Amino acid sequence: MANYYITTPIYYPSGNWHIGHCYTTVICDCLARFHKMKGDNVFFLTGTDEHGQKVEKEAKKRGVTPREFIDPLVEELKDMWRLLDVGYDRFLRTTDADHAACVQKIYQKLYESGDIYKAEYSGYYCTPCEAFWTESQLVGGKCPDCGRDVALQKEESYFFRLSKYAPRILKLYEDNPEFLQPKSRINEMVNNFLKAGLTDLCVSRTTVKWGIPLPFDPKHTAYVWIDALSNYISALGYGTEHDELFRTFWPADLHLVGKEIVRFHAIIWPAILMALGLPLPKQVYGHGWLLIGGDKLSKSKEEAAKTQITDPYELVKAFGTDAVRYFLLREIPFGSDGEYTTERMVGRINADLANDLGNLVSRTQAMILQNFGAVPERGAPEGTDAELIAMCERLFERVDADMGALNVPEALGEIFAVVARANKYIDETMPWALAKDPAKRARLGAVLYNLAEAVRICAVALKPFLTKASAAILKSFSCDGDATTDALAFGLLQAGTPVEKLPPLFPRIDKKTLDALLAEHAKSAPAPKPAPQDGAPAPAKKPEIAFDEFARLELKVGEVIACEKVKKSEKLLHETVKLGEEVRSVVSGIAKFYTPEEMVGKKVVVVTNLKPVKLCGVLSEGMILCAEDSEGNLSLVSPERAVGSGATVR
Ligand code: MSP
Repeated sequence: MANYYITTPIYYPSGNWHIGHCYTTVICDCLARFHKMKGDNVFFLTGTDEHGQKVEKEAKKRGVTPREFIDPLVEELKDMWRLLDVGYDRFLRTTDADHAACVQKIYQKLYESGDIYKAEYSGYYCTPCEAFWTESQLVGGKCPDCGRDVALQKEESYFFRLSKYAPRILKLYEDNPEFLQPKSRINEMVNNFLKAGLTDLCVSRTTVKWGIPLPFDPKHTAYVWIDALSNYISALGYGTEHDELFRTFWPADLHLVGKEIVRFHAIIWPAILMALGLPLPKQVYGHGWLLIGGDKLSKSKEEAAKTQITDPYELVKAFGTDAVRYFLLREIPFGSDGEYTTERMVGRINADLANDLGNLVSRTQAMILQNFGAVPERGAPEGTDAELIAMCERLFERVDADMGALNVPEALGEIFAVVARANKYIDETMPWALAKDPAKRARLGAVLYNLAEAVRICAVALKPFLTKASAAILKSFSCDGDATTDALAFGLLQAGTPVEKLPPLFPRIDKKTLDALLAEHAKSAPAPKPAPQDGAPAPAKKPEIAFDEFARLELKVGEVIACEKVKKSEKLLHETVKLGEEVRSVVSGIAKFYTPEEMVGKKVVVVTNLKPVKLCGVLSEGMILCAEDSEGNLSLVSPERAVGSGATVR
């Protein structure tokens, strides 16, 4: 049994989730599922990249701690992966204690070996990319990656001797071109960075508090990219007594990443690993982007977001998990960029899923049930039977070759070629005509048996791609949904096996339905806002929750009996709130909107079962609810009629 370790990048908890974000992780999930199905011992890692200036700034802006800002966004991301049937083996948060300890070990080791040294940093920093640049690397004075403003930074810092590793990295690409794929990415790295030689990398900050303190100088925090890249080994217990996973799975088989972060994965990460004396990942693959109107899809493109549905929740609600997965896995030649539109997604759903796959399944099941009630006997092959059977028998080999070459869209193409062949087989054999002639009953049975087998084999092969449809089809043929690649052999279905008629798996989406969906979306889409300069996330649309999740909140009416400003903060007020018999200390970020005097005597709604936290050193045992308008102005929520403090809000 082979080991297979696959990773996604860990996500910034921005909350601006869009369909482009789903691309890397859905592909990784599909590859992980494929390897599991082959019987490999798989470890699939994903997670969140939570430290750094971006998060620190955003939390400060909202008057909350970084942790308070991040936690709900991390839950949202996990919800998104659930929605898309992403089945990871570990979700690592860079705020996890084991990760932080590992990052400290890595820094200590590099410091002791002399690969990290202290000097003065002077250069430019791009907060949205969390990247350092020299003046000559800037393009028109802006970040060369994202085109946004950069800030001049001067501080005492620790540096990693990246320059020392440039020749070894060049040699790595030469000796092992498989390390970085597709090939075009090697040229990008060599021409844009390595040819000019590398400068040493600043790997610590004193001005950013929200980070992992360096063990040998705790007033410095770790540079977020070193913190983030280390997740690939910290998740496996590197440097601890319990490093069984590390010993089993390192080096990784594949780091799949978007092309904009190849530089970090194919230059900085191997240099760090070389410095640590560790083996390098077998492959870094830099995939392309989902584009909208020719630009990288991102929520800041509000105009596009108005006319196109880009929100994964909205898409899954409209078309289902499998349809969204299918589009991501099938539409874009792997390694290239590809345009996203809702119409394109619908086109794929209608042509491939509703017409080809959906019709094949429903016609096959209907004809079996009508004529035999269960799977008929397999007869001797005739006519084009052999061609269909041969395609089914070769399917695994072909899919395996494509998946091995990371050609995920082609692998799906192989499966849909069998679907198309089976549909053609129906036209050729005309089972409806055979059914009219009692002398042809055995032949009818054989034809329907072949079709049932083709459908079953496609469903098994589709397991890593269309998780829900595959399971539903297999169940309707009374087959085990846990099937491995052994189930891809032709002829396994037994005559007499019960068959159940499935409702349409992928209903066709006609133009009228699509137009109505888009019109509805345009109504609810937010009005265009300027793109946040510092990459600050816009408020996230929350997923639907069940009533019992809402019921977990405890909300009460409170009366503010005292209030004062929190000393070290411009935003925070400290209220003493009476809740019936109980009195609590509550801190709220409303100082810009209410004076302490105004607050006293107000009836407010308080969330009373939030975990207590300290904000600027003051204990907060609840949260006062406010309404926020589009400009960010806050207004207290109060009961409309007189009601005593301690009353329940529900
Ligand atoms: N936190 C870093 C990664 C650190 S890994 C050690 C990061 N996070 S991210 O949230 O910005 O991106 C996560 C993934 O989403 C990346 O692979 C990125 O390329 C991908 N995508 C985000 N927008 C995308 C598109 N429009 N299209 C395809 N994938 C893109 O980078």
